[in-house]
Amino acid sequence: MSDAKAGAAGPRRERTLVLIKPDGVERAIIGKIITKFEDAGLKVVGMKLLKADEETVGKHYVYDEKWLFSVGEKTKKSMREKGVEMKETELEIGKRVRNFLMKDLTRSPIVALVLEGYYTTEVARKIAGATQPKTAEPSSIRGMYASDNYELADALKRPVRNVVHVSESKEIAEKEITLWFKDSELLDYRRADEGALFGA
Ligand code: CDP
Ligand code: MG
Repeated sequence: MSDAKAGAAGPRRERTLVLIKPDGVERAIIGKIITKFEDAGLKVVGMKLLKADEETVGKHYVYDEKWLFSVGEKTKKSMREKGVEMKETELEIGKRVRNFLMKDLTRSPIVALVLEGYYTTEVARKIAGATQPKTAEPSSIRGMYASDNYELADALKRPVRNVVHVSESKEIAEKEITLWFKDSELLDYRRADEGALFGA
């Protein structure tokens, strides 16, 4: 990872983890998804197609009450905006969704990607879009390639089909990258358009 000409004053290059979930792989839109990230200037430095096991997915969606609560909170807020008051607590929703995710991420192959750039997590999450495809920004991956909603997902006892996972923060990204990739699987090279993209 080189920060080239930016030197100490400039932002550091950073990496984030993306998973193309089973729905994205099964729909044969792997290439389109990668293109969205690449077109924005994020560089693919790690990539593999794999069948995830429960242990790894359990560590990925780690049992962390803060995160489980935030999953429930976001869901309740979005449903409340539709006039639906959910009876479950935030934590109950979070735990239920985690169980759905454990099953879904192991049911069919996924693609794991490591992207590198500046403010990579922030940029990649913007490109991925909001969690619920129905309301995700239309030009985001989730808005463009999906339209699923929480109510249908809950009724079918599965997670909302939103095509991709992107790490939540730079710190979480570092942990998630270590979980899915060995150091030797991350490769450094220069993209031909790096000069034009960043002048660096
Ligand atoms: O993926 P993102 O960071 O946008 O959302 P999250 O709040 O960390 O939730 C993780 C994943 O749980 C989402 O990407 C959805 O696949 C799933 N989820 C769901 O199926 N139903 C919900 N009510 C909330 C989240
Ligand atoms: Mg998340």
